Amino acid sequence: AGHLLGEPGPPVDPILRRIAHRHASLGVGPGQYPVVGAHLLAAMGEVLGDAMTPAVHDAWDEAYWLFATALIAEEARVYQRIGADPGHPWRPWRVTARTVATPEVVSFDLVPVGPDPLPGYLAGQYVTVAVDLPGGDRQARQYSLSRAPGTGSLRITVRRVPAVGDAPAGAVSSHLHERVNVGDVLDISPPAGDVTLAPGTTPLLLVSAGIGVTPMIAMLGHIARLRPERTVVAAHADRCPQQHALRSELLDLGALLRDFRLHTWYDPAPEAAATGIAAGEVAARETRHHGLIDVDALPLPDGARAYLCGPLPFMRDVRAGLLARGIPPEHIRYEVFGPDPWAGIPPAR
Ligand SMILES: Cc1cc2nc3c(=O)[nH]c(=O)nc-3n(C[C@H](O)[C@H](O)[C@H](O)COP(=O)(O)OP(=O)(O)OC[C@H]3O[C@@H](n4cnc5c(N)ncnc54)[C@H](O)[C@@H]3O)c2cc1C
Ligand code: HEM
Repeated sequence: AGHLLGEPGPPVDPILRRIAHRHASLGVGPGQYPVVGAHLLAAMGEVLGDAMTPAVHDAWDEAYWLFATALIAEEARVYQRIGADPGHPWRPWRVTARTVATPEVVSFDLVPVGPDPLPGYLAGQYVTVAVDLPGGDRQARQYSLSRAPGTGSLRITVRRVPAVGDAPAGAVSSHLHERVNVGDVLDISPPAGDVTLAPGTTPLLLVSAGIGVTPMIAMLGHIARLRPERTVVAAHADRCPQQHALRSELLDLGALLRDFRLHTWYDPAPEAAATGIAAGEVAARETRHHGLIDVDALPLPDGARAYLCGPLPFMRDVRAGLLARGIPPEHIRYEVFGPDPWAGIPPAR
């Protein structure tokens, strides 16, 4: 609303693009906007009570529709580009391999059922997986494609979200871990997502934590195949090497590059550290650190473009560190594995 009133702020186009990709990945279509708009306005009325005068109602209605119109137009472009139909975004995909990456992380290889060709995609994009849960609910979640394009199948890599205290275990990640096996069929929408690898030859900094490694593997795989001369510094933070999903794949892909270095930060739980299981072997192109990630310890090649993926506090710290070291904000892209609460907030300098 502030943007519509001309208040100063960051450009709104990237925000619209992110939402439009997420919506398109979920099959959100123009016919749903009046329903969401009506209920949103009704909910605002319930919360605001008497403060929701007819003038306030009409102003928000107008703001909603200005934004909705812009989103519907952007979504139409995304649907066209990814070749999807908002009425029928889902296609059946068969699981051809199920690989345990770590005790908490499993990868699924997928191929289309029937004659549909494998869709093209860009490194960094994701698909939405929709599953029918045992209680009858249908739930959809995004998963980044964890392999470079051009290999004949798609792969997603899923961390199981555990129950913590009163919070239940994650619905879809648990379902995928516990009930989906080779031969099963999943409903999947075409790849979408706006945080994709910039073409060119500039050096890259790929910074991830935990399951945030998934889009980085796709980007590194793409570079290894098509641009092995591109300098890449990868940095990853995890509890220990054993819980670092796709660690050996990251190193194998890096070995195909002329100039690659992996910086790891492991922060083992005290009991694991005490037994020594956390140490593992330091790989040839790896620089091992301990504790929390320290951006100042990273080599920053001139003109580097940075891609970040991990928990929000992690990305906030890394981003602040990179800005402090002189990387301009437009050269730092990040993927959030949830709604993006930073959208619309001017980047901190
Ligand atoms: C662009 C994008 C890419 C992604 N890529 C990946 C990827 O490559 N790999 C990956 O593993 N994930 C990825 N994710 C995250 C993924 O989409 C899911 O969010 C994740 O798997 C959790 O989904 P879930 O259904 O298992 O958990 P949910 O059921 O959605 O639960 C999420 C959290 O909410 C809590 N919660 C749920 N209900 C309640 C309640 N009633 N009270 C209190 N707390 C509650 C749960 O305890 C849990 O901590 C990505 C997300 C996005 C947006
Ligand atoms: C003007 C109207 C709308 C606005 C401004 C809006 C905005 C947003 C935003 C900001 C997100 C989070 C994006 C991200 O950071 O990844 C989102 C996600 C989503 N939107 Fe909308 N939206 C609108 C209309 C709709 C409509 C009509 C639907 C149809 C049901 C819809 C369904 C969803 C769903 C399912 C998600 C994903 C939620 C999740 O998994 O966390 N939205 N939307």
